[in-house]
Amino acid sequence: MSRIAYVNGRYLPHHAASVHIEDRGYQFADGVYEVIAVYRGRLVDEEGHLVRLDRSLRELRIEWPVAPSVLPVLMNEVVTRNHIQNGIVYLQITRGVSRREHTFPVAVRPALVITARHQSLVHPKAKTGVEVITVADIRWQRRDIKAVSLLPNVLAKQQAKEMGAYEAWQVDEDGFVTEGSSTNAWIVTKAGEIVTRDASNSILNGITRLAVIRMATDAQMKIVERPFTVEEAMEAAEAFLTSTTSFVLPIVGIDGEKIGDGKPGRFATRLREYYTDWLEQVAAEAS
Ligand code: PDD
Repeated sequence: MSRIAYVNGRYLPHHAASVHIEDRGYQFADGVYEVIAVYRGRLVDEEGHLVRLDRSLRELRIEWPVAPSVLPVLMNEVVTRNHIQNGIVYLQITRGVSRREHTFPVAVRPALVITARHQSLVHPKAKTGVEVITVADIRWQRRDIKAVSLLPNVLAKQQAKEMGAYEAWQVDEDGFVTEGSSTNAWIVTKAGEIVTRDASNSILNGITRLAVIRMATDAQMKIVERPFTVEEAMEAAEAFLTSTTSFVLPIVGIDGEKIGDGKPGRFATRLREYYTDWLEQVAAEAS
């Protein structure tokens, strides 16, 4: 069965789906994207992703390519046509196709691509935890926009992979961790405070991050949104990361140093359970 992609109003076989060579996403990385999990055939936290997408588009002054209410219909159609039960939807909107000039083109329609793929949402290291390395954060100053310009993130993740780690925590000029290359960063202090960097231009405000803050607060856990240094992370009782595809993933080592007792922490384990319970509950309510 062949995969189907949505490209600017048409559903095409994945292998034949393409965009023009003068698409501004291709030439300038002038576009935004979202990755949305699909669990039991349903888009997870669709509303949160649409709100963030709207913000990204507005910040870059890119028009919606279709009415906002139509986008979920298109995404669900791509999920259905690809028979996705568990996996992800990738959606990308660029400023469109135009003769190469840096300034915004006039009267050009934004380009919309939607793909979906099967992917297990059970992370193989969820029970044992993962290692991270630290790297300098060399990105631009608008990391709150989910832009497709991901080269520093690509380099950071590759470095992590080559060093046998799962993720790279990026560190700003003052020694504070911003976030991972594709995940948000968290620690739990010895006093039991769950710390994650506050939402600002320095990080992408993860949809999973927001869900975990909500769940932890409901469970009367203490959340503190503030920057933390690598040194503080090394001394922490626990560390973990969050994202659409990893959910809540315990971290057991940073730069080769054990965190806590070198095993997934109590808080990270509990928060992962809350998150997966919530996914089940949403899927059950929808069916
Ligand atoms: N990455 N920070 C960065 C830089 C990210 O790229 C992502 C998501 C996150 C977590 O956000 P969320 O909880 O909304 O997934 C944080 C996606 C999954 C990706 O690029 O594949």
